[in-house]
Amino acid sequence: MWGGRFQDGPSAVMEEINASIDVDRRLYAQDIAGSKAHCAMLVRQGIISKEDGDAILGGLDRVRGEIEDGRLAFDRALEDIHMTVEARLAELIGEPAGRLHTARSRNDQVATDLRLWVRDALDRMDADAKGLQAVLIDRAEAHAATVMPGFTHLQTAQPVTLGHHLLAYVEMLGRDRSRMADCRRRLNECPLGAAALAGTAFPIDRDATARALGFDRPSANAMDAVSDRDFALEFLGVAAVLAVHLSRLAEEIVVWCSQPFGFMRLPDDFATGSSMMPQKRNPDAAELVRAKAGRVIGALTGLLVAMKGLPMAYAKDMQEDKEPVFAAADTIGLCLAAMTGMMAEAVFDTARMRAAAGHGHATATDLADWLVRALGLPFRRAHHVTGRLVALADERGAGLADLSLEDMQAVEAGITGDVFSVLGIDDAVASRTSAGGTAPATVAAAAAAARQRFLD
Ligand code: ARG
Repeated sequence: MWGGRFQDGPSAVMEEINASIDVDRRLYAQDIAGSKAHCAMLVRQGIISKEDGDAILGGLDRVRGEIEDGRLAFDRALEDIHMTVEARLAELIGEPAGRLHTARSRNDQVATDLRLWVRDALDRMDADAKGLQAVLIDRAEAHAATVMPGFTHLQTAQPVTLGHHLLAYVEMLGRDRSRMADCRRRLNECPLGAAALAGTAFPIDRDATARALGFDRPSANAMDAVSDRDFALEFLGVAAVLAVHLSRLAEEIVVWCSQPFGFMRLPDDFATGSSMMPQKRNPDAAELVRAKAGRVIGALTGLLVAMKGLPMAYAKDMQEDKEPVFAAADTIGLCLAAMTGMMAEAVFDTARMRAAAGHGHATATDLADWLVRALGLPFRRAHHVTGRLVALADERGAGLADLSLEDMQAVEAGITGDVFSVLGIDDAVASRTSAGGTAPATVAAAAAAARQRFLD
């Protein structure tokens, strides 16, 4: 393709380091779509003849068919998918194939192909994240009134409902999806026609190719068009944050499935056994989702480092963009599928959750709030009084609700029997009706609202 000024072919090592076909063959559909749009434009602009254009378009369809049927042998000597498609086209249709690359460079070609691929990947990722949201919303709705301990520092904080906890992840995924939409909007500019870096003297129509490929507009600066990989970095950034969210949910599953917690049980099809310990039921899929976040973060870091310090315009360094993008997309797809499966089928032990919510003086804040409301104590003073009551309960090895009224009055004389009405976990949960709060009615309404916001 570029041998005119060369006498020798590349060394084996040169070929090995230069070839990207093993990776970028995944761009074949985008590459052929981009070539067809470019070819049709060249014909319309009178840059190549209709006959040549028809031969090219027909030939590209055949190449695509051959690749899809597994009939095309990929050859490293042809470097990448762009040269592979063009070389096969030349074998199939002969001389007209050589006109396809008029007013085009591999630089604008690859930038276009990868944008198209990332755009599709974002659409798939959005659909998958939405699927997980749907499962979480279903389960949140069913468990709007299931009481469990809420944690901060993984220490019992206040009783919450399971629905409330699950809806937190629905919000995270909602932000992930809005980042995907944002990334998609910004990447949707067409580099095609930027040529190598300077544009072209041929009378091309960049609006036409942009439109044909579903882009909003052609990119404004040819140099930027061929050297920009922000869209890949943003995609990886979106993926990395999503992977972190999935890793956190995975960690919840690991903790909840452990025997001391016993909040959750994974069904057989999402658990694994141990080769030595017959009693084991391990949450391997959750552990792997937790670990795989490292790969996605690594993909982002790797490409950021590859891009830093690259002068204008294209440099071969950028060929290294595809592997992390493909790998991150694959990893996220698998993790979302595993998480959706686990969350759809997980069995919650609501009795264990309720029992755990009753431990750890989870309603101490409710007691302090009662002192503020009923006795008019400043919150700081109420906090101190409650702290002393917690210490007293601990001394007795009892819960706050097990203290007698006399015990309580010995610490704060004004306390009346009404205080016991706020010490139950159901009372505590039901009282938190503020917007975004954990009261069952509030959670049920929030789940319905989430369904509308995210799934409609
Ligand atoms: N395989 C190359 C890549 O992925 C295509 C662009 C090559 N451009 C060049 N000027 N050598 O980046």
